[in-house]
Amino acid sequence: MKTLDFEQLFESKLANGEMIEPKDWMPENYRKHNIRQISQHAHSEIVGMLPEGNWITRAPSLRRKLVLLAKVQDEGGHGLYLYTAAESMGISRDELLDALHTGKAKYSSIFNYPTLTWADVPAIGWLVDGAAIMNQVMLQRTSYGPYSRAMIRICKEESFHQRQGYEGMCALAFGTPDQKKMAQDALNRFWFPTLMMFGPPDKESPNSENALKWRIKRETNDELRQKFVNQTVPQIDYLGLDYPTNSGIKWNEAKQEYDFNEPDWVEFKNVISGNGPCNKERIEARVKAHNNGAWVRAAAAAYAEKQKQKSVAA
Ligand code: 3HC
Repeated sequence: MKTLDFEQLFESKLANGEMIEPKDWMPENYRKHNIRQISQHAHSEIVGMLPEGNWITRAPSLRRKLVLLAKVQDEGGHGLYLYTAAESMGISRDELLDALHTGKAKYSSIFNYPTLTWADVPAIGWLVDGAAIMNQVMLQRTSYGPYSRAMIRICKEESFHQRQGYEGMCALAFGTPDQKKMAQDALNRFWFPTLMMFGPPDKESPNSENALKWRIKRETNDELRQKFVNQTVPQIDYLGLDYPTNSGIKWNEAKQEYDFNEPDWVEFKNVISGNGPCNKERIEARVKAHNNGAWVRAAAAAYAEKQKQKSVAA
């Protein structure tokens, strides 16, 4: 087949809502776009283990500790599915991790903020995982097959994370006055960074046009941010917490949605350029974990080699 025919086949698959699979012909830019997004997503999952992992040893009860351990392990698993999906596009795990460790690859801005009190753990489950699902539900139908299939399982686990987070927020918000104060403080600090997770406003989002054309993304950054606010404000009301300072949250009767203030996009740009409060610490922790795991990778490779030799000899 000529490139033109391949291109027509690719376009017709997209038009018919069919998936693009690893062995299918695809435009080079489609491949690059997916590698960029899937690997950033994978990095976000494994860097995202750090802020909450920070509280595992200080969880307030055995039950909270078990739930938190399970959640942090789930995020590690999400990273693995996503790295595998990215590898199926012809890039190696080593190249992907090297980009993370040398600061060339991005990961979600949200994980560059510190977790200062226990209330940050449920607040992350509720807000951060809540925002992640809002964005990721559409990715279950993204056009690249391995990414889409990974997202189906990830979304199931993320909804459990969101529920456990909200349950933890309820425990604090309906608890003692000091606990309620902690919950309010966590909401205040995580509100704007959570809104940034959806990416810059549509008019300043260089990747959205291709992402929508190729059905990698199915909704825009601003559409998803608005949906998240509409879903979350009634949950703040139920908790009996105040809206975060300067959030500008107000019901708009004409539009039947909440108005809200945009986050500080200058701060966002700083954070994604490596200058957020915890960027340096996060990368150092990932590099250290990677180096400490070298013996595990070597042992697994030696075992695989031995099994291969056995099967050749048999
Ligand atoms: N954090 C860091 N970088 C971000 C960002 C954020 N919140 N939002 C946007 N950016 C970056 C983009 O990566 C892009 O940089 P690049 O061109 O150098 O790669 C630039 O800012 C411009 O943004 P665009 O809107 O043009 O980028 P996208 O079209 O890719 O949209 C996105 C950004 C909505 C995050 C999209 O990439 C996406 O949907 N990604 C998949 C989902 C994902 O990665 N989620 C991470 C959330 S955390 C998570 O899942 C862990 C869970 O356990 C909570």
